[in-house]
Amino acid sequence: SKLRIGLIPADGIGREVIPAARTAIEALGSDIPKPEFTNLLAGFELFTRGGVALPEETVEALRESDCALFGSVSSPSKKVTGYSSPIVALRKILDLYANIRPVVSVADAPGEKSSVDLIVVRENTECLYVKQENLEFTENGKEARATRLITERASHRIGRMAFELALNRPRKHVTIIHKSNVLSVTDGLFRETVRAVPSTANGRYDGVTIAEQLVDSAVYRLFREPHIYDVMVAPNLYGDIISDAAAALVGSLGLVPSVNAGDNFVMGEPVHGSAPDIAGQGIANPIASIRSAALMLRHLGYHQPADRIDKAVDEVLREGQLLTPDLGGKSSTQEVTDAIVKRI
Ligand code: NAI
Ligand code: MG
Repeated sequence: SKLRIGLIPADGIGREVIPAARTAIEALGSDIPKPEFTNLLAGFELFTRGGVALPEETVEALRESDCALFGSVSSPSKKVTGYSSPIVALRKILDLYANIRPVVSVADAPGEKSSVDLIVVRENTECLYVKQENLEFTENGKEARATRLITERASHRIGRMAFELALNRPRKHVTIIHKSNVLSVTDGLFRETVRAVPSTANGRYDGVTIAEQLVDSAVYRLFREPHIYDVMVAPNLYGDIISDAAAALVGSLGLVPSVNAGDNFVMGEPVHGSAPDIAGQGIANPIASIRSAALMLRHLGYHQPADRIDKAVDEVLREGQLLTPDLGGKSSTQEVTDAIVKRI
C-alpha cells in the first residue's frame, strides 16, 4: 500500500521547510506505507504570476491524497482585488474544522521560558475568518464592518474534538476561551455549546474537568502560569492569537506544529507564516514543519513513526549543538534537518 501525501510549500520559508519535512518522512523507511509525494501549487506569488492563488488542480489532487503538508502563504495586509488566502480557503473547502496546535517545551532546550505542555484547539472555519467585510462612505467618513459567524454546529464539533483530545492526556482538562462578558451573543453561543458537549456524550467525558477564561486574561495567565492549561478550545481568531503567544513560551514560532483536521482529511502545517524577513537565506527553523509531519502521521494512526520523528527532534534540541538563529544558533535549515534525519 501507499501513503499519498500532497505537498504545498506555497510562499517564503514554506519552500524551505516543507522539503525538510518530506525528508523526515522518507527517513522512516518501511515503518509507514511507501510515501508518494505530489508537489502542488498555491500562494500569493503564484497569484501575482497568473492571477490564481489556489488552482483547481491543487484542490483536486488533495481530494485524491491521504493527507497533506502545507507551508505558508504571504498574504498582503492590504486588500488585493481577486486574491483570497489559499490556506483559509482550503480549510473551508476540505472542511478541516479543527486546527490542533500542541505547544510543548523540551526540558532544558535553549530559548525556553517555562515548562509548557498544552494544546490549542482552534475552530477553523468561521468567526471573523468568514471574511465578510464591507466599507461604506458615510457623511461621517469611512465605516468598515465585519461579520462574525459562530454556529452551534461548528462550536459543538470543535468542543467534541477538544474533549476527545483531553481524554488521551494525563490531566484531562479543557479550558474554554471566550469573551462573552462583551460579546454575549456570539461568544456566549460558543461558550454554552462547548460546555454542553459532555451532556450529549453519555458519560464519555465524565473524567474531563472544564474551566473557562476570558481571552485577554487567558493570555496574561498563559504567560505567568502556563501549567494551568491543558487543552484550550477557542473560536478562530482567539485560537490564532493564543497559539502564537504560547509559541513564545517555548522559544520560537519555528518550533510549533499544527494539523488542520476534519472527519475525512488531515493537513499538517507549521503555525508560523512565510517569514519574509528571513526567507531565501536557508536559515528557517524546519522543526515546526517536521513536527507537523509527525502530528499528521499520528492523526492517521501511525503513532510509533510519529514518536520516532519527535524523539529525534527532542534529541537535537536537548543537545543544543545544531540550532537555527531563531534559537540562538548558527546552523542552517539543511544542517538541522540532516541532524534530525540522522537520528530518525
Ligand atoms: P511569521 O510567522 O511569518 O513571522 C514572525 C516572526 O517569526 C518573524 O520574525 C520570523 O522570522 C519568525 N519565524 C517564523 N517562522 C520561523 C521559522 N520557521 N524559523 C525561524 N524564524 C521564524 O509572521 P508575520 O511576519 O506576521 O507574517 C508574515 C507573512 O506570513 C504575512 O504575509 C502573513 O499573512 C503570513 N502568514 C501566513 C500564515 C499561514 O500561511 N498559515 C500564518 C501566519 C502568517
Ligand atoms: Mg497565526
